[in-house]
Amino acid sequence: MLVVAGARPNFMKVAPILKELELRGIENLLVHTGQHYDPLLSDVFFSDLAMKQPDYSLDVGSGSHAYQTARVMEAFESLVEEVSPDVVIVVGDVNSTLGCALVGAKAPCTVAHVEAGLRSRDWAMPEEVNRVAVDHVSDYLFAPSPDAVDNLKNEGLGDKSYLVGNVMVDTLLSSLPLVEKSTIMEKLGLVGDSYALVTLHRPSNVDDPDTLGTLLEALENIAQACKVVFPIHPRTLSKLENKTISPNIITTEPVGYLDCIALEKHAKVVLTDSGGIQEETTVLGTPCLTLRESTERPITVSEGTNQVVGTDVNIIVEKSLEIIKNGYLKRSPALWDGKASERIVNILVSKWDTRY
Ligand code: UD1
Ligand code: UDP
Repeated sequence: MLVVAGARPNFMKVAPILKELELRGIENLLVHTGQHYDPLLSDVFFSDLAMKQPDYSLDVGSGSHAYQTARVMEAFESLVEEVSPDVVIVVGDVNSTLGCALVGAKAPCTVAHVEAGLRSRDWAMPEEVNRVAVDHVSDYLFAPSPDAVDNLKNEGLGDKSYLVGNVMVDTLLSSLPLVEKSTIMEKLGLVGDSYALVTLHRPSNVDDPDTLGTLLEALENIAQACKVVFPIHPRTLSKLENKTISPNIITTEPVGYLDCIALEKHAKVVLTDSGGIQEETTVLGTPCLTLRESTERPITVSEGTNQVVGTDVNIIVEKSLEIIKNGYLKRSPALWDGKASERIVNILVSKWDTRY
């Protein structure tokens, strides 16, 4: 089985699948496309998650959507020809996911998509295009939640869909003992339950200077009430060059996985446009405000700690202060129990190869 990872949110999704394949003695090869290459967006996850090094690195790097996806496809096609995998496993919704799913489907080999069925219904999001296309070319659709299965059924993909739970949660739960050893709180001078954690990297939030300015204004307001910690994604950093960030806001480089979970766990509130962090905060029981107009993860709202609040300064500040004062209900969805990878591998081996 050829397992693909390329960008930050992929590593914590493939880690438990690789471990499960290893446990069953199923031959597996890890391919890193190189979409993300900075040590803090890539290497750190291999050490934090005790993952094996990639068997193949495609080194595609950054570029426009077409350039990046095309480079992934060219390099992955050669690799597929060389190793003839039975199954290609792709995760999430990044350009690497799309490129490798398309190549796998045409090889042809069996393509399994983990985290299938998520839909924001915002076609301006590049990830939404990737999600829909990947689901429609894949053979196995592993969905994290019932809403995702419903989306797949509505698109005529019900026969290929399996509700398996959330692989990110597998990694989160198994990492908690190591998260306890993180020293990030001391390093940043923080005590638990006293700060807001912020992450921003969506093009819709950071590429437009006006929207980014509005979000910084909201953060400055919140920083009057509590400390604000802001690990900055490289896309965002490149857009902040001409902006001043208030000294009340603690900025850092992107943090490693274990440090990020520690910061999420102990925060009073998390403000984010990340997909994965909406899920992690739900499981950790930390209130989350999603600074977007929509979410592809509505279960984190209906059965978790997430509220989708958009990008209006007044609403962001009002909701944050409300949480800082009163807290928020803690709850977590069914099947987000640390066993999603086990379910996925069970299904793959039972359907695909009777040897196991
Ligand atoms: C990508 C994903 C997004 C995901 C995010 C997670 C797509 C379409 N987007 O967005 O879904 O939420 O990763 O973090 O696949 N850069 C660096 N170092 C790196 C990688 C990128 O400096 O290691 C800079 C480059 O200037 C690059 C820019 O960040 O052009 C954007 O990188 P890219 O991978 O294209 O998109 P992300 O915004 O990271
Ligand atoms: N993350 C991290 N360090 C950071 C920010 C995020 O380790 O500085 C982790 C986070 O805990 C989650 C994943 O990266 O596991 C989410 O990735 P990201 O927000 O980049 O992408 P998205 O989920 O939005 O696609």
